[in-house]
Amino acid sequence: MIALAALGIPNARSQKQLTVKVNQTKADIQPTMWGVFFEDINLGADGGIYAEMVKNRSFEFFRPLMGWDVKRKTEGDVLVVNRKEVNTANPRYLRVTANNAAKGDVVLVNEGFRGMGIKKDLRYDFSIMYHQQQPAVRLTVELIDANGKSIGGTTITPQESGDAWHKAIASFNATATELKGKLKITIEGNGVIDLDMISLFPGDTWKNRPGGMRADMVQLLADMKPGFIRFPGGCIVEGFDLSQRYQWKKTLGPIEERQLLINRWNFEFAHRPTPDYFQTFGLGFFEYFQLAEDIGAEPLPILNCGMACQFNSAEVATLDELDPYVQDALDLIEFANGDASTKWGKVRADMGHSTPFNLKMMGVGNENWGPQYVERLKIFTKAIKSKYPDFKLVNSSGTDPNGERFDYLNNELRKMNADIIDEHYYRKPEWFFENARRYDNYPRNGSKIFGGEYAAQSDKTVSVDNKNCWLTALSEAAFMTGLERNADVVNMASYAPLFAHADGWQWTPDLIWVNNLKSYGTPDYYVQQLFSLNKGNKVVPITLNNDVVAGQDSLFAAAAIDTKTNELIIKLVNASNRSQETSLSLDGVKKLASQGTLTVLQNDDLMAVNSFTEPTKVSPKQSTVKLSGKKINLSAAPYSFSVLRVKI
Ligand code: AHR
Repeated sequence: MIALAALGIPNARSQKQLTVKVNQTKADIQPTMWGVFFEDINLGADGGIYAEMVKNRSFEFFRPLMGWDVKRKTEGDVLVVNRKEVNTANPRYLRVTANNAAKGDVVLVNEGFRGMGIKKDLRYDFSIMYHQQQPAVRLTVELIDANGKSIGGTTITPQESGDAWHKAIASFNATATELKGKLKITIEGNGVIDLDMISLFPGDTWKNRPGGMRADMVQLLADMKPGFIRFPGGCIVEGFDLSQRYQWKKTLGPIEERQLLINRWNFEFAHRPTPDYFQTFGLGFFEYFQLAEDIGAEPLPILNCGMACQFNSAEVATLDELDPYVQDALDLIEFANGDASTKWGKVRADMGHSTPFNLKMMGVGNENWGPQYVERLKIFTKAIKSKYPDFKLVNSSGTDPNGERFDYLNNELRKMNADIIDEHYYRKPEWFFENARRYDNYPRNGSKIFGGEYAAQSDKTVSVDNKNCWLTALSEAAFMTGLERNADVVNMASYAPLFAHADGWQWTPDLIWVNNLKSYGTPDYYVQQLFSLNKGNKVVPITLNNDVVAGQDSLFAAAAIDTKTNELIIKLVNASNRSQETSLSLDGVKKLASQGTLTVLQNDDLMAVNSFTEPTKVSPKQSTVKLSGKKINLSAAPYSFSVLRVKI
């Protein structure tokens, strides 16, 4: 077995004597310890958590009719019009001339994001912006199944006329469930109408917010109770070049005024081209903050530091042109925290959130590196800290957890006394097993660590063959025991990437997979969830022969106390193919409850994966265990991750 070459074969017969020093706090575990990393990659936002079902709703894609199938009666019946002189954010719209058009003469069909997921009996909310000199046409709006059969719809006769744009809305219920549905709009009548922002949302969005997010996907995040949510990335922060960088100010306000941007994952991988991948920003910074609040996570926005992706153009803003970038960072703090008397606090309040979002930290740069990064970072740090001295900054240590780039940055950032250093590890499972001791000898004072992006790669980074299998998850669990043990150094960690659409991904592995109807958590998801739900707030030592448990006999362990519930929480990974008996002596415990809760994630097959048909094949099973005295006998099944909670 690949990973196990790195591990010892356990002596199956002997019982392992583990000692837990329950009354010896080694470190505080931060509430932010386990979080989530969100990036609009793999159709994570558009086509994913942002529930808009119409692709290219405002005809702003590079090819204006991409995603649309247009049937005309005569040439010129349907034109793409560009008003870029008067509307730079949303220049294009559709001009439809209905020339005594009968049903079927002029038809627009939108294919959605790899189809539209339609649920029987669910309400669908259609909206459209229009402009006409006089009412003259009727629109029939229908959902159709993969065979073109109507499965619900309604009609709209736009009534307003004149020079202004108006919005028409209509809701209807679907009559069937369909994974690959489409939206069909038939235009009948005699006259001219301009159309824009053609939109369809399901009625079951998260918190039933109009124009909101997919509830099943948000629920999977909420179920993790993440300590923070990092957004909006990832490389999309940097952009292919600076013109394509993420600019949060352009993601606020009415959605028809949010200027679309190509998604850098559209063309990043020649082997996974996604030419229809754009960012419409219906999920913008306001919505990210709102999402963080909804799921009880600290918001962690990452901002561009004046450098585009160094794998791509490596374009930089000169130091004397950095001001707007720095100002974006300062303004973001005001947007999140300022009251309505401030310029940006008022923007937030006008969007419907008068109370502050209480932003405490931000990342400057994503995965940037080199002296160019350091010199820009210093300028940001000085400006932000002089205005907001207590505000925490996350700094990049580059692309890899070791090597020249890492060593240079690690050194420079520590000299700068960086608040939080963001380390990334996309490595094979062996690396995760072998690096469970990574932080045992890190400096205890000074900069804290954010394991900002990590995922075990069953094949290799950016390989399409990577799988979210039990092996990858188990290796991450082993590694994470080392993060928890070193919670005085490691204050935050998040798996990456978060979401992937089964028909539209660019990067694998990913924590959660979705199609247009369903979503499921991978084995890696359940590992993240178990750590997060069983975080505790104080690390206590757990040892085997006076050493931390970090791979001896393929065992890995961490122990924590939850002082709010008065529970001891033991996490134990058995990465061997044999069951292992352990006996835990609890030093300093006054009283132990007569039973505890044991949650086990286990599979005999390291290659086991979850899927749409078997979404919980590898998922936690909970049981009650009887305890007596002050010793705990815990049997760790082959290839298992166990979490024991017991009142003390
Ligand atoms: O998570 C996928 C990508 O990996 C992120 O966008 C980037 O930060 C890293 O290289």
